Amino acid sequence: MSRYHWTPPAITDPTTQRDLPDYHRRQITSLLCELAPAADGRLAILGAGPCNDLDLRQLQVKWPHIDLVDRDSELVRQGIAAQTNSSTGLHVLQQDLLLGDNEALAPSTAPRLLVPEVGQSFLARLKQTRWDALRCDYDLVASTCLLSQLVHQVIDAVGVDHALFIPTVQALRQRHLWLMAQALRPGGQGLLFCDFVSSETLPDLFRANPENLPALLSQALQENNFFHGLNPGKLLQIAREDTELQACLDQVQMSPPWVWFTGSLAYAVVVIKFTRRSSKAPT
Ligand SMILES: C[S@@+](CC[C@H](N)C(=O)[O-])C[C@H]1O[C@@H](n2cnc3c(N)ncnc32)[C@H](O)[C@@H]1O
Repeated sequence: MSRYHWTPPAITDPTTQRDLPDYHRRQITSLLCELAPAADGRLAILGAGPCNDLDLRQLQVKWPHIDLVDRDSELVRQGIAAQTNSSTGLHVLQQDLLLGDNEALAPSTAPRLLVPEVGQSFLARLKQTRWDALRCDYDLVASTCLLSQLVHQVIDAVGVDHALFIPTVQALRQRHLWLMAQALRPGGQGLLFCDFVSSETLPDLFRANPENLPALLSQALQENNFFHGLNPGKLLQIAREDTELQACLDQVQMSPPWVWFTGSLAYAVVVIKFTRRSSKAPT
């Protein structure tokens, strides 16, 4: 199932969005606040975008240093301005999080790289991605519904019919988790928020309640009704079992799902939580 084309929801002051179910923003914000250390915490939020799913004022109270990372830094600045007059502790970092500084491909202009050699070169570059704008000493790194965007860029660049499409998505998932871990101090924590199916193919998401949501989603997963490469069970398995990730991730857990309402669409979301190992995993 292909990924939707995400358009940022209109930026408004979240406190005035009384009509919109606000659970997603509260869920992300409260998890980020709960994990703040007692002092001097450093937080990185990947794919911060318009910050619609963050309560920046609450985060500013708990986190003295917050790096808001996105390839679209203007969108992040607009998101900040919509929520707060105070930029205390907030830092906007522009970084492409797919290919790093490796000639990032803009989805709208990307050619479809069906030529095998070009697909190979994309895959090789992806495996070497670095996030140079980020430091390596964060207490918490949160990737906020970004992975689905990155997979979509692979779809645009490589195409689902390319022989290297699946290996490329596999490499992307692994590299994303690995780079999150590298950005953490030993003992720091990672949160991978992942939207994996939308109301476009699962309209019942709009009517779901906490009681019937797990059954609805498990049926959707059985029917392969999820975004390419974003089956949450598979993501959890990779985070727990990939050899390179095992060496740096510990205590990997997944939350129950919830629904993110963005107005015209609803998305099912889970979060995978992990701790960066302080030392190498036993071999
Ligand atoms: C679905 S949004 C995340 C939700 C967002 N936090 C919000 O408040 O609505 C995805 C964000 O990822 C960013 N993004 C997409 N592709 C990216 C890339 N290759 N590198 C960095 N950021 C990217 C987009 O600019 C967008 O802001």
